[in-house]
Amino acid sequence: MNNQNIFNEIRSKIDIVELIGEYVSLVQKGRNFFGICPFHNDTNPSMSVSREKQIYKCFSCGASGNIFTFIRDYEHVDMKGVLDILAPKAGITIDNNIVSKKVDKYDKLYEIYELSNKFYQNNINTKEGQKAKEYLKNRGIGDDIIKEFEIGLSLDSMDSLTKLLTKKGYDALTLDKIGLSSNNHDLFINRIMVPIQDENGRTVAFSGRVYNKKSDHKYVNTKETEIFKKGNILYNYHRAKEYARHDKYLIIMEGYMDVFRASSVNIKNVVALMGTALTSEQSALIKRTSNNIYLCLDGDGPGQKAMMSVGEQLEKMGLQVKAVCLTDDEDPDSYILKYGEEKFRMLIDDAISFSDFKLSYLKKGINFNSDLELSQYVDTVIREASNINDEIRREIILKKLAKDTNLSYNTLEKRLEDYLADKKKVKTEIVMPKVKTVKLSKYDKASYGMIYAMLLDKKYLDAFKKQSLYFTPQLTRYLLTEIEYYYKKYGNITIADFYTYLLDKEDILGLYNNIINYADNDIVSDEAVNDYMKVIKDYNEGLEIKRLRELMMKTSDELEKSKIAEEIKLLRIGE
Ligand code: GTP
Ligand code: MN
Repeated sequence: MNNQNIFNEIRSKIDIVELIGEYVSLVQKGRNFFGICPFHNDTNPSMSVSREKQIYKCFSCGASGNIFTFIRDYEHVDMKGVLDILAPKAGITIDNNIVSKKVDKYDKLYEIYELSNKFYQNNINTKEGQKAKEYLKNRGIGDDIIKEFEIGLSLDSMDSLTKLLTKKGYDALTLDKIGLSSNNHDLFINRIMVPIQDENGRTVAFSGRVYNKKSDHKYVNTKETEIFKKGNILYNYHRAKEYARHDKYLIIMEGYMDVFRASSVNIKNVVALMGTALTSEQSALIKRTSNNIYLCLDGDGPGQKAMMSVGEQLEKMGLQVKAVCLTDDEDPDSYILKYGEEKFRMLIDDAISFSDFKLSYLKKGINFNSDLELSQYVDTVIREASNINDEIRREIILKKLAKDTNLSYNTLEKRLEDYLADKKKVKTEIVMPKVKTVKLSKYDKASYGMIYAMLLDKKYLDAFKKQSLYFTPQLTRYLLTEIEYYYKKYGNITIADFYTYLLDKEDILGLYNNIINYADNDIVSDEAVNDYMKVIKDYNEGLEIKRLRELMMKTSDELEKSKIAEEIKLLRIGE
């Protein structure tokens, strides 16, 4: 790979713990950091990140690598895409042949949105914006929130934005394509404008709210464009993610107003769904911020229904979900307005586990007079209870259920035990293939240890060569050749950079992975290396003796035979 130097430079400027920490919450345990592995359906923190080695590995699924493989596999991009993401973070600009054309094309669209956003924000601060400001003020949204969320105003005019943008040189076709105008007419007219930003904070769309007239559409949104895919975006994500990592939880609400209100009482780890079902892209975004998610959707029917589906989706991803309970006529916005910050914070503290929420939700909708509905309900509750890892709570749930349904506790318990047994079966089935207990032979251990020592210090490579030692397995030999080549070319090896070098040599990479996962220690002693070399030498000699014996058996020439016997004897003495 000829870009090795660029990669090495970027790698040396980005700390893997900080980088992965942006995606997965990491907790330090000893020398390493641990988090939920994003590369398999993980519930325990099985991914370990080493600051010393600048690599990560998952004990469960075996995923491992350096910053480049992490971004490649997490963002599903190729190496060019990885560079596009990491080079700016490292403060490095890369020659134009690497920055793809695609990005340039989109830059113009982002630019237009940036300009429009400025235009709208400016409008709300002029005389024409007075009414909109008044409306917001009446709802308790002051200048600080207007500024924080860059709230603006589209004018009561057919083409003020289109004119401005055309004058700046953007053609009508582009403006149509990105959803700001149509046939030289503005699409947003006389609405309070909420800019929608992507995860990097770039404005990619608007949502415009009516404020001084009647309309069938409370909000009008930008259509989907090349830079705006609704299902990829959560409102306020780019601000909330930092707060969520700090506060160690993320709150999910329904609407813009809820986010504004929460922020006005200094609760900033909040995103909004914008009235849609949760997509898998959105849940992936959520998973990056924290393992603890608080659902705080509207208290009405649709809101509670959405809590059920969103909660189930997030639980499936291994997140800890809690439900904040609002009554039927409230949303977070109205609740905070009515009861204030302190009461709302108490409500968050009192959030119930998602399984409790589910149980009470299921109970609400049930017609206890219908046998079918009742039996389905009983079954769902017991299944739910079997997911709870607490015997006492399971018993409480079952006792309540027995009382509610007039069924005998024993019947219910039997069903629960069936489910628990099923789960155990499933569990062992899943766990078994996960635990990779490849038994290494004495020779493998020695060769792994030897290679690892060579990576840490070139003197061990030299010692190995000086003794005329060699590896018998082909892959190990290839790997050694690469190590020698790399030392010759770059003078020095670091575990993480050598990783990059091996990325397009897949078979060797697998072996390399095994080696660095096996050799977990950063210190190698001369003594250990001498032992490795002895094992390797013995092994090689053993093979050689075997080969010679076979040769001796085949030959009929007595002189040849005695020559071989002599050779074997010499090898034996060397033992
Ligand atoms: P207020 O009604 O001003 O309190 O706004 P809100 O943001 O609280 O809206 P609401 O709770 O009614 O709806 C939640 C979210 O659904 C909104 O923030 C919007 O993203 C979305 N939404 C609501 N109404 C509409 C609509 O008429 N059109 C579109 N496209 N989205 C809507
Ligand atoms: Mn609302």
